[in-house]
Amino acid sequence: MKKILVTGGAGFIGSAVVRQFINDTDHSVVNVDKLTYAGNLQSLVSVSDDPRYRFEQVDICDAAEVARVFREHQPDAVMHLAAESHVDRSISGPADFITTNIFGTYTLLEASRAYWSGLDAARKAAFRFHHISTDEVYGSLGDSGFFTEETAYEPNSPYSASKASSDHLVRAWHHTYGLPVVTTNCSNNYGPYHFPEKLIPLVILNAVSGKPLPIYGKGDNIRDWLYVDDHARALRLVLERGQLGETYNIGGWNEKTNLEVVQSICAILDELHPQSAPHNKLITYVADRPGHDKRYAIDANKIARDLGWKPQENFESGLRKTVEWYLQNTEWVRGVTSGEYQNWVQKQYGVPSAEC
Ligand code: NAD
Ligand code: TYD
Repeated sequence: MKKILVTGGAGFIGSAVVRQFINDTDHSVVNVDKLTYAGNLQSLVSVSDDPRYRFEQVDICDAAEVARVFREHQPDAVMHLAAESHVDRSISGPADFITTNIFGTYTLLEASRAYWSGLDAARKAAFRFHHISTDEVYGSLGDSGFFTEETAYEPNSPYSASKASSDHLVRAWHHTYGLPVVTTNCSNNYGPYHFPEKLIPLVILNAVSGKPLPIYGKGDNIRDWLYVDDHARALRLVLERGQLGETYNIGGWNEKTNLEVVQSICAILDELHPQSAPHNKLITYVADRPGHDKRYAIDANKIARDLGWKPQENFESGLRKTVEWYLQNTEWVRGVTSGEYQNWVQKQYGVPSAEC
């Protein structure tokens, strides 16, 4: 049994990782999360009473508090997911992205290094710092080709530039100080507990309540969709078996245009929520995102070949599960769509938000 310090464990992907550790392994978890607008302890109610789960409301930029967490909990590994994660917010307000994603990662690296340096030889050798990043650091693809681990970094948004910076810091802490790190870069995740500022949950909730489904530009931008539980399984595998200093790309082999994604959600809702069908009549083309990356697509052969990972979910099965989850979990939805969310939707789309 190991103790894993997970940062950002109250977020979308972090909460999936925490739930898997508690439900599917004998490891214990310390969830370190500041609880920004995107952090939600309601996503962890199914595991929060487990004695192997602990929560620390801490900002990763607070060096003294992060050091205290290491001292008190003595973790065997760190999985670093805490970040500002939404591209549109990074365009309208980049400061928090620079602070958390760059300075916060630096602070966590320094605390990890100080703690790791003081461990005995066996625990020192077994320690891991796993940095969770994005395929957006590679920039944008044309009509063909895939992002591999060798693709040059060309980040285009304030979000992806801040994540690229954090990847470089993690790499440098390995090469300079010997900190035992692994890094993963994944494609767009989707699934339950996703904050409805991102395309898929936003469209599901807007469609259910008869609100416009905003498509940026022509809807022909392509994303490569990965079901969040498949991603969490891949992360656990990389933590256990990844080679030190290596990076692994994680993707679902599910390239779709945004319009295809929205049409698929509408078709599922026509079946499950027929009272407001056809939902695709709500599709509304809106102004494009500045600097909108055209296409992302991950070559996930390395993690398949070296670690034996492959996704269990295809896009059709994963999307159906996701839509069903949002229809069934109205309390969770109500919790996240009150408060700050209303301001964001008003500011971004100029219309009142969807509430379930
Ligand atoms: P999210 O926005 O849902 O959650 C981020 C979490 O980090 C929240 O719980 C938030 O409270 C916490 N947090 C933010 N700032 C913090 C700070 N200063 N100190 C402590 N906690 C803080 O994000 P997500 O979608 O779960 O993404 C998790 C990680 O995966 C991020 O690093 C992101 O860059 C990366 N990623 C996400 C996707 C995706 O499709 N969602 C794709 C590729 C990579
Ligand atoms: P998003 O979920 O924000 O993820 P990312 O920007 O990290 O890829 O967006 C996914 C795609 O959907 C992206 O091409 C932008 C587009 N999009 C819309 O067309 N409308 C929307 O309201 C949102 C939020 C995104």
